[in-house]
Amino acid sequence: MLGNTVLEKMQYQPHRLSLWWQDGSQDDFTCDWLRDNAPNAGYDSGQKAYSLLDIPTTSSLLDVSTEPDQLHLMFGPDNYRICFPLAALKGRSRPVISDRSECRKQLWSAADMTALPVWSYPSFMENPETKLEALERFRLSGVFKLKDVPCESGEVIKVINAFGFVRETNYGALFDVRSRIDPANQAFTRRGLGAHTDNPYRDPVPTIQLLHCLQNTATGGDTFLLDGFRAAALLRDTNPEAFDVLTRHEVSFDYQDTETALTASVKLIETSAQGDICRVRYNNRSINTRQMTYEMQQCFYPACRAWAECLQDESLKCCFKLQPGELIVFDNTRVMHGRYPYEEKGERHLQGAYSDLDGLYSTLYTLRRQYGE
Ligand code: OGA
Ligand code: ZN
Repeated sequence: MLGNTVLEKMQYQPHRLSLWWQDGSQDDFTCDWLRDNAPNAGYDSGQKAYSLLDIPTTSSLLDVSTEPDQLHLMFGPDNYRICFPLAALKGRSRPVISDRSECRKQLWSAADMTALPVWSYPSFMENPETKLEALERFRLSGVFKLKDVPCESGEVIKVINAFGFVRETNYGALFDVRSRIDPANQAFTRRGLGAHTDNPYRDPVPTIQLLHCLQNTATGGDTFLLDGFRAAALLRDTNPEAFDVLTRHEVSFDYQDTETALTASVKLIETSAQGDICRVRYNNRSINTRQMTYEMQQCFYPACRAWAECLQDESLKCCFKLQPGELIVFDNTRVMHGRYPYEEKGERHLQGAYSDLDGLYSTLYTLRRQYGE
C-alpha cells in the first residue's frame, strides 16, 4: 500500500530525522515519535505497556546508520537503541485521513446513482465475500440495498446483526413507519418528508439507518436519497460564507413526547482537522431555534436557507419506490433521505432501525483481512 521503501537519502539533527524515499516522498520524525513507536517499545496483550512519561524529555538523536531495509538509531541521554524496519517508517508522517472523510468517498449525484447498488439478502447473510462487497460499497457511497428480504417483522434486526450492533432508542430496537391516528412524529403520517438525517436530537446521533419495506401498495410515498457530502461540497463552491457559518456554529435539535425529552447542540456540517467534510445534518422538523443570539440569527438564517436550498436540488436526488422485500442501509451522517406524500388508499408499511458506523467498519476491516486482496 505504501509503495516501495527504498531510501534515497537520510539526514538527522538532534531532534529531527528526515527520510527521502525513491518515489519522491519524504517523512520527518521527532525523537518522541521515534521512541514512542519503536518496534521494541514495551507491549503487553497487544497494548502499550508504558507511558509517554517513561520517555526522557531530553531525548536526542546521537547516531543513525542505514542498512538496505533497516535503520539503526541511538538516542541520548540514555544510549537507547532502536532498530526500525524501513517499512515501519514509510508514509508514517502523513496526515491521518479518516474513512469518514469526503476524501475517502465517492460523492454522487442523481446521474451517478440511477440505481442503488443491490445485493440479494440470502447471499449477503451467508456469503462473507458478498458482505465485504456490500460494505465496501457502503463505505464509498454511503448506501446499499438488499433485495429478497423476507417480508417479516424483525428482519432489520437480523441484517444489523450481520454487520454490527443494534442502536436501541426510545422508539425501541426497531420502529414501524406507517400512518397513525395520533402520531408524535411526522414520519408516522402520510405527509411528504423533505431531505433529512434522522434523530439529530440524539447525542451521539445514530450513524446508520435501515428501512425495510414490508408492504407498499400506496399511491405515492416514493423514497429519495441524496449524498449530503455532495450537497455540502456544492454549498462550499457556491456559497463559501454559508458553508463557513454552518461548520463553525452549533444549533439545537430536540424531540419531545410524553416520555421523552431529547436535545442536542450540533453543527449542520462538520469538517475534519484538515477541513474536509466528514458529517452532515439537517432535519427541518426537529430544529430548535427558539433561543439564539442576534448575531447568530443574522448569520445562521441565510446560511441555513442556502443549505436547505442545496438539499432541494432535484439533480442530487436518487428517487425510487421501495418494494416489499427491499431494505436500504444508509450512513445517517452523510446520506439524507426523504419521501413523497402518499394517499390513503393502499397499505404502506416500513420497519426502521438504527445501528452505528464503528461496528460496520470493524466488520468491513476484519472481512478485508480475511477475504480482501
Ligand atoms: C423515517 C423516514 C421515510 C419513509 O422514518 O425516518 O424518514 O419513507 N421515513 O416513510
Ligand atoms: Zn427519516
